[in-house]
Amino acid sequence: MAADADESKYFVRGIEKNSGCVLKMNQCYLGDVGCVVWDAAIVLAKYLETKTFYDPSTGVNMWAGRRVLELGAGTGVVGLMAATLGAEVTVTDLENLQTLLKVNIQDNQALINSGSITAKVLKWGEDVSEFLPPPHFVLMADCIYYEQSIVPLLETLKLLSGPETCIICCYEQRTEGVNPKVEKQFFELLQENFNCEKIPEEKQDPEFRSPDIHILHIRRKP
Ligand SMILES: C[S@@+](CC[C@H](N)C(=O)[O-])C[C@H]1O[C@@H](n2cnc3c(N)ncnc32)[C@H](O)[C@@H]1O
Repeated sequence: MAADADESKYFVRGIEKNSGCVLKMNQCYLGDVGCVVWDAAIVLAKYLETKTFYDPSTGVNMWAGRRVLELGAGTGVVGLMAATLGAEVTVTDLENLQTLLKVNIQDNQALINSGSITAKVLKWGEDVSEFLPPPHFVLMADCIYYEQSIVPLLETLKLLSGPETCIICCYEQRTEGVNPKVEKQFFELLQENFNCEKIPEEKQDPEFRSPDIHILHIRRKP
């Protein structure tokens, strides 16, 4: 636990990597939606370890040295997974999540060898110039849930996407309340500027996947 962190505020969830190492994720008893690890984040974090990206037996590592930016990172588990696989990661979220992100970075630093990770504030719809040139990958887990944020989130995705950028979006499809409407609106607006590829379940982690959690690769239209 980081020296400046109040232990009574946190409870820990372990996320085991394929190597057997365990990411130790502090979550808060009290706080906003981002202060716990959501299921979509686990599905996405484990997807980053699949053979599409990382295969120690052949030496394939799509993360090594790649610039990765995570939006709405919450606890930071997805970005931390990418950093332990060798990526140069910036995890971003609102100001109120920065302490939790920094605690989790500090507590998992020993698992990061060739990669790196930094936490920064990025509010969707605001200036992204400090995050440019466009990263190779933008990661987002469970960020499509909030009506007012759809347009600013899409604006941020546009500003961050270059011709080589792959956005990997993981979301839980929810059937209640405003969620179906928010998802529909997001995908309708998304297809104006982006192409989407749905990743079939058999290409995801065999254990950490679910029929109601979807992974998409999204690229800006030429
Ligand atoms: C449902 S949580 C998901 C957190 C994390 N990605 C996960 O899956 O465990 C949504 C995250 O989006 C962040 N968020 C919401 N609105 C935002 C905005 N306008 N700008 C930046 N981040 C925002 C929240 O602070 C929160 O961390």
